Amino acid sequence: MRTIIRQLLSQGVSGQTYAIAGWVRSLRVSKGIAFIALNDGSNLAGIQVVVEQESPAFSEIDAIATGCSLRVAGTLVASPAAGQERELRAESITIVGTSDENYPLQKKRHSFEYLREIAHLRPRSNTFGAVFRLRSRLAQAIHRFFGDNNFLYVHTPIITASDCEGAGELFRVTTLDASSPPLLQGRPDFGQDFFGQKTGLTVSGQLEGELFALAFSDIYTFGPTFRAENSNTPRHAAEFWMIEPEMAFADLADDAALAEKFVRYLCRFALEECSEEMTFFDRQIEKGLLERVRRVAEADFVRMEYGEAIQRLQRSGVSFSFPMEWGLDLQTEHERYITEKIVGGPAFILNYPRDIKAFYMRANPDNRTVAAMDLLVPKVGEIIGGSQREERLDVLEARMAEVGIAQEPLWWYLESRRWGSCPHAGFGLGFERLVMYLSGMENIRDVIPFPRTPRHAEF
Ligand code: 4AD
Ligand code: MG
Repeated sequence: MRTIIRQLLSQGVSGQTYAIAGWVRSLRVSKGIAFIALNDGSNLAGIQVVVEQESPAFSEIDAIATGCSLRVAGTLVASPAAGQERELRAESITIVGTSDENYPLQKKRHSFEYLREIAHLRPRSNTFGAVFRLRSRLAQAIHRFFGDNNFLYVHTPIITASDCEGAGELFRVTTLDASSPPLLQGRPDFGQDFFGQKTGLTVSGQLEGELFALAFSDIYTFGPTFRAENSNTPRHAAEFWMIEPEMAFADLADDAALAEKFVRYLCRFALEECSEEMTFFDRQIEKGLLERVRRVAEADFVRMEYGEAIQRLQRSGVSFSFPMEWGLDLQTEHERYITEKIVGGPAFILNYPRDIKAFYMRANPDNRTVAAMDLLVPKVGEIIGGSQREERLDVLEARMAEVGIAQEPLWWYLESRRWGSCPHAGFGLGFERLVMYLSGMENIRDVIPFPRTPRHAEF
């Protein structure tokens, strides 16, 4: 039976023999003794395997190269050298998979750009090992948070006929022959397509999530979402994961309260349960990260009206590259200025102009804003977008007509307002933006295993 290296180091008994397996990070041979840094992905440091000349395992050393996979059996002992508390004194080594000097991950610092080109191997590096362990643990913590708070987990569809955000960023899903589709009045006839209508990949599970909230009260989705947004920024991916809670009998203030509790829970979780990774990020990726995350875990989040945010940006005297006045959406540079310079921490911006927000957001009595909220955090900008939903059928229908959204395809959404409608609210947290925020990694391509961005779908 093989022992996972992280468990071996935390629970193993010195003097006992154990079997482990993993990949060679480095090999050093000096004067009749060899040191192998072996890593199985379960922790950052891996374990030092020591092979003495007298050991039968020593005959294998010549054939071992960086990148090999090995099985090792040996005795767990206290390490006489600095750098690790304990090490494994090898008694036998089996080379499972060989490697050679062309292995692209030799022991030196590689740029993140280079590592993106070898996304099939980068999980074996220190940084990406830490990123993807953190990502995995956070996903589990998210389910734990909602489970503990009695939210129902709902799987919303990935193939959909409706563009929830109305931004026209749907990727088409079709089985029609692209080179000669059936035509109707000179255009592709989607009536003959697989689903009998035009369909795409979902940009959000919200609309279906709302239907479930109106039956189960508190629900959340956690799934992949897709946006054919042709923006090549460090914060946008064409495929990303989103967590979307939705609460019945809740308003915008309840929504912000949940978002704050949720983000703080995740900060605390990362600090407490991923401390090895967080310490690594603090040392190697962003100095001061631990302190920054600790402050967020403890601080109250600021709440600021959109109108006030605009005024304060205008008064700042900073010349931004994008225009900024009441009625315009905030760009990343504005968002970052608010959270980094004005507030110095996470900030909710509340009640945006209705003309820059989606049709489903609840109209405020002033008739020019909607009950929307974005949560902005330093370094990343918008990490959460949410709102109270328009639960009044007549107001919703009027709004859809105004912005030109056909009612017929959304008949089911409208019916949810016909019987037993109630105030409800929810938000979407971009999972990659959360991982960026907590790791200090600055490019979304480096926190998702195999990123999809314009012109990139390899691996
Ligand atoms: O603000 P967004 O577009 O909101 C919605 O989709 C709502 N339906 C959510 C809801 O109320 N249930 O997206 C939510 C979050 C953003 O704040 C951002 O963190 C992330 O999703 N996001 C992206 N992340 C990576 N790449 C992209 N292209 C993203 N677009 C949005
Ligand atoms: Mg948004």
